[in-house]
Amino acid sequence: NTYLVVMAGGIGSRFWPFSRTNHPKQFHDVMGVGRSMLQLTVDRFQGVCPPENVFVVTNRDYTELVHQHLPELPLDQILGEPIGRNTAPCIAYASYRIMQRDPQAVIIVTPADHAVLREEEFRSTITRAVDAARTHEVLITLGIKPARPDTGYGYIQYLDQDDSGMPGGLKKVKTFTEKPNLELAKMFVESGDFLWNSGLFVWRADVIVQAFHSYLSDISEVFDDGLAQLGTPQEEDFITQAYTRCRNISIDYGIMEKADNVYVLPADFGWSDLGTWDSLHRIGRPDECNNVVDGDVILYDTCECVIKTPSERLVVVQGLDGYIVAEYDNVLLICKRTEEQRVKEFVADVKAKK
Ligand code: GDD
Ligand code: MG
Repeated sequence: NTYLVVMAGGIGSRFWPFSRTNHPKQFHDVMGVGRSMLQLTVDRFQGVCPPENVFVVTNRDYTELVHQHLPELPLDQILGEPIGRNTAPCIAYASYRIMQRDPQAVIIVTPADHAVLREEEFRSTITRAVDAARTHEVLITLGIKPARPDTGYGYIQYLDQDDSGMPGGLKKVKTFTEKPNLELAKMFVESGDFLWNSGLFVWRADVIVQAFHSYLSDISEVFDDGLAQLGTPQEEDFITQAYTRCRNISIDYGIMEKADNVYVLPADFGWSDLGTWDSLHRIGRPDECNNVVDGDVILYDTCECVIKTPSERLVVVQGLDGYIVAEYDNVLLICKRTEEQRVKEFVADVKAKK
């Protein structure tokens, strides 16, 4: 009774123009391997949980896309959200749905925008977390050794002692800080006793629902009201009104920062979050001038760039140093790599103009 919940409703706006409202990055073959991020995510859990226990939560606008990418997934395992309310309502919806079937179910929650290089190690780590969650009332997150003071992540400080009575190398979390400012992030990384929150969570259905009651009771109230309607023909109408009653909050701010039964499993399986153009540069195969290129591109005197262009377009670049050049569906972005956090702002401006 292990379940998988894939959160696939984000827009991924820092990956614009590749990631678009009508075609977010989880539906793209970002890695250039012939499988979309969403497909790679589900593939990664083969053998960890049975296909009938896989749920994908996404915006209703994307249920058809999810179906195209995962045709073997029965439609009632695609949970459609009427509006994006961030990850807490998304997790509540899936958890209540699963709890109704099996309160003791162990649920793995995964983002749909990660790359994992070593899948065997990934599966053995997840399995350890699943075994621990089955018998303990804990909220487990997988923790990654931080490589730089990135402000886009959650930071976890843990108690490095063996007397917690927890199996499988789980460490009790002392503090959880979601998206700190740069100064704090630098301190955390330098101190050496923090891990990044991978955003991969493992817990029992009854344990996460209890956490909602304790820390996000406004959201659990909404779903308690509709429990009897989940899994029935009334589910869609119930969810439509339920989401208007839920505030927009992530699971990290809403529960992980606050709960006192959070444990981290330090993990190392070649993880990266493909959140921004720079992340593509980090995991891509660089040429001799440290450019990462995907497309029909000819370069002169160009270095430190990340370039992704449609295969049908020939692109010639001269003299660029440290730029993102990205084109998709009639939109071309040229932006300094060091300014990539501004891509979100550009997207907002473009939307405002339309
Ligand atoms: N269904 C659904 N609905 N999915 C959503 C929604 C929503 O409203 N909002 C976000 N998601 C999905 C995204 O598509 C992504 O797969 C996942 O949930 C995480 O959301 P992000 O928006 O990518 O979060 P983040 O990267 O800023 O931060 C999270 O991940 C980091 C690691 O990658 C946090 O958990 C951080 O603490 C963590 O370090
Ligand atoms: Mg992310």
